[in-house]
This record gives sequence, C-alpha cells and structure tokens, in this order.
Amino acid sequence: MSATGETKAITPPDIRARKGRAPLVCLTAYTTPIARLVDPHCDVVLVGDSVGMVLHGLSSTLGVTLDMMIMHGQAVRRGLVRSLMVVDLPFGSYEESPVQAFGNAARLMAQTGCAAVKLEGGEKMAETIRFLCARGIPVMAHVGLTPQAVNTFGGYRVQGRGEDAERIRRDANAVTEAGAFSVVLEKVPEPLAKRITAEIAVPTIGIGASLACDGQILVSDDMLGLFSSFRPKFVKRYAELGEQADAAIAAYAADVRRRCFPAAEHLYTHEARAGDVT
Ligand code: KIV
Repeated sequence: MSATGETKAITPPDIRARKGRAPLVCLTAYTTPIARLVDPHCDVVLVGDSVGMVLHGLSSTLGVTLDMMIMHGQAVRRGLVRSLMVVDLPFGSYEESPVQAFGNAARLMAQTGCAAVKLEGGEKMAETIRFLCARGIPVMAHVGLTPQAVNTFGGYRVQGRGEDAERIRRDANAVTEAGAFSVVLEKVPEPLAKRITAEIAVPTIGIGASLACDGQILVSDDMLGLFSSFRPKFVKRYAELGEQADAAIAAYAADVRRRCFPAAEHLYTHEARAGDVT
C-alpha cells in the first residue's frame, strides 16, 4: 500500500531486489478474468506467447503476432492491480536488430501498459537487451529451452545436459550482464539451474528447473488443468478444471435435450418483479 492507501504495483526493480529472498510467484494470464484471479497471489503476471498454443490452438508459438500480444496484454492490464505485468515479444519481432526490438517493445509498452517485456535467447540477444535497458525498457530474459527455437532444437527437449550446460551458463551470465532484471530458466537439469541461481546477480524464475530458483512460473491453464492435452513432468496440476467444465457442459446438454432447462426460476414473468433486473 502507498501513503494514500492505494495498492502500489510491483516494479521491475522490486523484482530485481528479491534476489535470494522470498520466492517470486509468477503465472501467465491472457484474459481479464484470469488476470483478476491470479493478481492477488502473484508478483509477476506474464502475458506469454504460449497464448498461441493455449488459446488459439496453434501447434507452436511461432505464429503469434505482435497484434495478438497487444490485444491479450490490454485484456490482462484491465484485470491487474498489484502484480508486475510482463509481455512476451513474439517470434520475429525482435531478433533482427536492437532497433527492431526497441520499436516493437515500445509499442507493446505504450499500447498495453506493461512495465517490462520478455524475450528469448542468451548470448546472442545480450546486445539487444543492453540496448533496450539503456532506453527505458526493462527486460526479463528467457534461456534454456526457448520455445521459439523449437525448430533449431528439433523439439521441446531438456536443454543444458552434459557439456551443453556451459552454453546455458554463458547465456544466463550474458543476459544478466546486459541488464536483464530477471531470467526465466526453462527445462534445464536441476543442478544446472541451482548453479546458475547461485552465480547470477538477478532472480532466476524456474519452469522445469529447480526449487532453488528465486521464483517459479507456470502457465495458468496448465496448472488449472484447462489445457488438458499438455501434461509435461514439470507441471503440477492444482485443479482439474477441464474435467469439471466437461461434466458441466455434458449436464447442460442433457438438461436441454430432456427439456429440463430453463426451469421456472430462469424465466421472466409477464409482469415485472423484484429480481428481474438480471
Ligand atoms: O510463453 C510463456 O508462457 C512462457 C512461460 C512458460 C515462461 O514463456
């Protein structure tokens, strides 16, 4: 709370200052109702480009556009009061040059009201991260399994096993030195995530990484059991809302077919009555 009693929104420097302290709670959201549900419990709400797979039925995140991210970012903004909102830069909107990244990140910030952007990539993106951070755009980095590189990796495999660990360590260190205020570590071996967390000066946010990370993130639809076709090992299902929705829809269909719905209490009488407003 601020001195005026208003809830103060969490900022990128607040997140940066949480290194080695109480774990950061992070979830994704793509819509206003989910943003309202997660906001009281989260430090960071990410409008992830996973929206392409989760809400739009795409087979990867590669088809997600900047306009899609802006539309979902605007919806999420309306549902947040306290959490830091971070929006993903989608594939093709930042890799070409720091100038391209700045133009698109600035548009995301101006049109969604987000306070930070996330982009994928390590050493190769360090120059871009430095360019953005020096020009007022806080960056959350993302290394390890970077889903936008699915075709380069040949799938969504664990990254950084064996000798490949050094590559991920270099990536995490490079984005930290470039000025990222936090680093998502996705699908890397636990000892590597622990080592990187001990090594770098900014919070690590794990997804399929380690309990030792400074925070954790999951896709809300995964942990709520809404995106039912996707069951990776790193997702703990905290609810089975997909199964509940299926049962509810089946019950509605049966009621309609048996002419049991609508019942008297769902209908309006000829004369207006108290309770008819809705
Ligand atoms: O797009 C996304 O939802 C993400 C998280 C899984 C980290 O990048």
